[in-house]
Amino acid sequence: MKTSNNIIHQFTILLLCVAVWAASADPHQDFLSCLVQNHSDPIGMSNVISTPNSTSYSSILNATVQNLRFALPSTPKPRVIITPDHESQIQTAIYCSKKHGLQVRILSGGHDFEGSSYVAEVPFFVLNMFNFRSVSVDANSRTAWVGSGATLGETYYNIVRVNTSLAYPAGYYPTVAIGGHVSGGGYGPLLRKWGLAADNVVDARVVDANGRILDRASMGEDLFWAIRGGVGASFVVILEYKIRLVEVSNEVTAFSLKRTLEQDATKLVYKWQNVSHKLPEDLLLELQLTVVQSNQTGNRTVQATFVGLFEGGVDQLVGIMNESFPELGLAKEDCVQLSSWVDFIPYFFELPLNSTYRILLTRVPPPTPKSSFKSTADFVQQPIPEEGLKKIWDVLLEIPSPPVQMNWTPFGARMAAIPASEIPFPHRGENIFMVFKKVQWQGTSPELAQERFAAARKLHSVIGEFVENNPRRAYADYRDLDLGVNNIGETSVEKARIWGGPYFRNNFDRLVNVKTMVDPDDYFRNEQSIPPRPSHSCQSNQEST
Ligand SMILES: Cc1cc2nc3c(=O)[nH]c(=O)nc-3n(C[C@H](O)[C@H](O)[C@H](O)COP(=O)(O)OP(=O)(O)OC[C@H]3O[C@@H](n4cnc5c(N)ncnc54)[C@H](O)[C@@H]3O)c2cc1C
Ligand SMILES: *[C@@H]1O[C@H](CO)[C@@H](O)[C@H](O)[C@H]1NC(C)=O
Ligand SMILES: *[C@@H]1O[C@H](CO)[C@@H](O)[C@H](O)[C@H]1NC(C)=O
Ligand SMILES: *[C@@H]1O[C@H](CO)[C@@H](O)[C@H](O)[C@H]1NC(C)=O
Ligand SMILES: *[C@@H]1O[C@H](CO)[C@@H](O)[C@H](O)[C@H]1NC(C)=O
Ligand SMILES: *[C@@H]1O[C@H](CO)[C@@H](O)[C@H](O)[C@H]1NC(C)=O
Ligand SMILES: *[C@@H]1O[C@H](CO)[C@@H](O)[C@H](O)[C@H]1NC(C)=O
Ligand SMILES: *[C@@H]1O[C@H](CO)[C@@H](O)[C@H](O)[C@H]1NC(C)=O
Ligand SMILES: *[C@@H]1O[C@H](CO)[C@@H](O)[C@H](O)[C@H]1NC(C)=O
Ligand SMILES: *[C@@H]1O[C@H](CO)[C@@H](O)[C@H](O)[C@H]1NC(C)=O
Repeated sequence: MKTSNNIIHQFTILLLCVAVWAASADPHQDFLSCLVQNHSDPIGMSNVISTPNSTSYSSILNATVQNLRFALPSTPKPRVIITPDHESQIQTAIYCSKKHGLQVRILSGGHDFEGSSYVAEVPFFVLNMFNFRSVSVDANSRTAWVGSGATLGETYYNIVRVNTSLAYPAGYYPTVAIGGHVSGGGYGPLLRKWGLAADNVVDARVVDANGRILDRASMGEDLFWAIRGGVGASFVVILEYKIRLVEVSNEVTAFSLKRTLEQDATKLVYKWQNVSHKLPEDLLLELQLTVVQSNQTGNRTVQATFVGLFEGGVDQLVGIMNESFPELGLAKEDCVQLSSWVDFIPYFFELPLNSTYRILLTRVPPPTPKSSFKSTADFVQQPIPEEGLKKIWDVLLEIPSPPVQMNWTPFGARMAAIPASEIPFPHRGENIFMVFKKVQWQGTSPELAQERFAAARKLHSVIGEFVENNPRRAYADYRDLDLGVNNIGETSVEKARIWGGPYFRNNFDRLVNVKTMVDPDDYFRNEQSIPPRPSHSCQSNQEST
């Protein structure tokens, strides 16, 4: 009796909650009026608002979309784009969207793999952090305040302009922005010695669901923990991070060696799995895999590119490689001395080294044109046997042009030393390397998209045979909606655990605690936002029964 009463009671509450939401059926115009009327400087506010009627609207969206899968006419579009240039405009946007029931999507660089920063199935507006892009470096304390809308390239540029031996250990790709990247983890060429971008954050400034501006001291250590790998968009709007800069010698050496299947790539990749995570922390040996036409046979073949970045000189590097990985046959002639660590960014993308600053400051992503793609992550605990590698190659070779790409990034060193609960990113010592896979296509044909989706799933499935599956790990910065999504309307912690477990493992419950504390009404929500425990607002009168 008691149980069924409870169910009926909960059901009634659910209906009430839904009714409250449904009341504002066309919130759009009210939202706009609220924005303009409320703000103390209405001229300033209307200058940063763009609607589908504005001439700027489609160009802002166009510049935003990094995955052309979400540039289709059928893709749901924001009712309003706000590109604030002052914090008070963010406070007003939060206030007005709460009042008029529009969902917020926060966008810094727009690289979200599933377009989650600019696509939603419910009425929404985009808060585009493009103007929050200042980078101020303090060489004395070796820190910098970096706006969430700054790209990695702009961040690197401003750091090395002050001193080329200072660095920030973040991602490879220069157009990715700080707001999404750091809040979801962020790994790049310096990870073996220094860990993730999120491991090197010392303070932050955010706006919470009540419009309060908080820093580390006022937000407290739990929220500060959550926004270093737990993805900001579940909790707050990140205005800026204070990052720790690290010292990198100006003696830096790089190399890039390509080997096809005809040149024994399978054996080399097998061996790579044994050695790459055990190399000294000063040496990154990244592996890229793609499909090319073989010069020997004229047939398509898998090509493995072994890309090295070493903090030190050529002789020392060749000595280490000769000892640890003689089969690769690295010679002095293969090595290039870089003038600083940051030259590795163009080097990695096979762009001319004299273009470094241009590459860092561009907002147009190198080196290929934008495409539609499906990408996912994996974390590997044991070397994949040679027979397994051959199975993976077979799947790669089935996929036509443009070819599939994979990057395998070794862990070990610092990545293995940091405890799994230090920040929400939980994938540390048990993993020997991580995998990025990207199946892409050009054009808008739905049939082609279906075909490439099937290929992406097949690749994901074959790699799944060789990694931990309980649950299979995933990376929050490589969002994958195939893992599961929240219900629109009521959702639950247990439903969220289906996708949250793979991203955050044992850190998931602490993220739920933080969410329950800082955003109990679930203002900051999306397909894969951390839900609060249900003890709030419209359900709180449950306690009286
Ligand atoms: C081409 C390409 C290369 C990449 N290379 C790397 C790499 O080398 N290493 C790596 O680790 N990852 C890499 N990534 C993944 C990348 O780190 C993530 O997609 C990251 O989340 C993108 O951040 P963004 O601000 O550019 O994207 P956005 O799409 O703007 O944001 C991503 C997510 O973060 C949220 N968010 C953004 N800004 C804020 C904010 N200010 N406050 C709160 N929430 C916010 C968004 O709502 C969204 O959920 C790459 C992605 C692409 C497309
Ligand atoms: C956009 O333009 C249409 C037609 O001119 C108008 O009806 C509508 O109210 C406008 N919307 C906004 C948000 O200004
Ligand atoms: C977006 O901009 C690019 C150039 O920057 C252009 O080639 C493309 O046609 C634009 N797409 C849309 C949908 O406007
Ligand atoms: C304007 O917005 C602020 C939040 O920025 C809010 O506190 C205030 O009540 C709003 N005022 C009106 C008149 O809506
Ligand atoms: C640059 O930074 C390094 C490392 O902190 C330091 O040793 C060096 O003196 C700095 N160079 C200049 C010109 O400030
Ligand atoms: C890789 O390591 C395993 C276990 O240590 C060993 O059995 C195997 O022979 C090694 N393979 C290579 C190619 O080094
Ligand atoms: C084939 O040969 C060309 C010219 O020598 C070279 O640039 C290319 O890298 C080679 N490709 C492969 C897959 O070996
Ligand atoms: C190239 O591919 C064709 C068709 O799959 C095959 O018949 C042929 O044996 C291959 N050639 C070589 C040298 O592998
Ligand atoms: C590589 O190591 C072998 C012995 O381990 C040595 O004979 C050879 O000279 C070394 N080569 C280089 C280039 O260091
Ligand atoms: C940059 O280097 C390339 C060769 O790598 C050369 O062709 C080009 O002219 C150089 N550009 C400048 C501006 O020096």
